[in-house]
Amino acid sequence: MYLTVESLEKRYGHHDPSVSDLSFSLSQGELLGILGPSGCGKTTTLRMISGLVPITSGKIFVAGREVSNLPTYRRNMGVMFQSYALFPHLTIAENIAFGLEMRKLSRAEIGRRVADALAMVQLKAVGERKPRELSGGQQQRVALARALVIEPDILLLDEPLSNLDAKLRDDMRNEIRDIQKRLQMTTVFVTHDQTEAMAICDRIVVMNRGRLEQIGTPLEIYEKPATPMVADFVGRINRLAGTWRTDGALMLGDAVVRGNASGTAGTDAVVMVRPHRITMLAADETPAAGPGRNRLAGVVRDVTFVGDTLQYKVEAAGGLVAVEKTTTSAGNRFNPGDAVSLVWRFDDTLTFPGEVAG
Ligand SMILES: Nc1ncnc2c1ncn2[C@@H]1O[C@H](COP(=O)(O)OP(=O)(O)OP(=O)(O)O)[C@@H](O)[C@H]1O
Ligand SMILES: [Mg+2]
Repeated sequence: MYLTVESLEKRYGHHDPSVSDLSFSLSQGELLGILGPSGCGKTTTLRMISGLVPITSGKIFVAGREVSNLPTYRRNMGVMFQSYALFPHLTIAENIAFGLEMRKLSRAEIGRRVADALAMVQLKAVGERKPRELSGGQQQRVALARALVIEPDILLLDEPLSNLDAKLRDDMRNEIRDIQKRLQMTTVFVTHDQTEAMAICDRIVVMNRGRLEQIGTPLEIYEKPATPMVADFVGRINRLAGTWRTDGALMLGDAVVRGNASGTAGTDAVVMVRPHRITMLAADETPAAGPGRNRLAGVVRDVTFVGDTLQYKVEAAGGLVAVEKTTTSAGNRFNPGDAVSLVWRFDDTLTFPGEVAG
């Protein structure tokens, strides 16, 4: 493993810890995402790895060597902050060149690398301007170029794309991915956007309230979330209240469904299924549940058209179920008041012990 953090903890003053008991490792050239809601400790984690805030306890290793107490400049890390932190008195080109000059590269080499970096973030024409003469999104791209240009062993990016429009965000995240893979830079990428994390990360750490909730590939995090929080955070999902039976099935109100795990008979379960994994049929339509499938009767209460999809709310045993269908030019099949059957696979039914929180 190239970068390892072990039992990291950060307390600011006497408050509860902002990060606690956090451990994970990255192999060389890996792109690891840190994903989680606002305030969960992402920036704090990145700052501890970079050495910008001292750790309260725990250890950080790079290539087998402990760096926990080394100053930032001795960790060979390229860092991009959430609040760009460009030097206001330097031009854009000088901002990007700064780290290269510290490394004593030749004039010609610096000129070439700065030009490449500006082209990469689609800002060729602004090299002579000052940061205040750029928009927020342009400044963000300069900060990204500044972190990448030194080709560090370890790249730490804190919400590097948060101020960009959708198209530019896509372009930039692919650029980051390409350059990171080409140069084998071990990268930690902080974001609260699950689509972004899924699209480019080799693995993802999901954090919640300062702790690691799960670490895994995007597919694992999405299909096999370890907790209801993860399931909720990485895509829309229904939460229904169930109770386990002795045979491993669950009662949802008076209906019986099966999930991906079993629990202690008689105890409460949170039953979760993603809206787009549910097929909706008219109540009198025949194809029965079929092997491996749950079937639940309900009544459509609400339909919302959102372009690509139709979003239904269906009242059924266990609660209000969201169902999502891709729209077709043929239009809407179901209307409020219609009696329907909801069908989905056992495999798509995630179950967790506990009660559905209000
Ligand atoms: N300098 C500080 N002093 C005291 N508390 C702090 C300090 N910096 C951060 N915190 C607290 O630590 C917690 C984690 O903050 P952090 O900035 O790491 O969150 P984050 O996950 O990056 O959130 P966001 O997505 O909003 O950027 C928050 O509760 C925050 O208020
Ligand atoms: Mg942050």
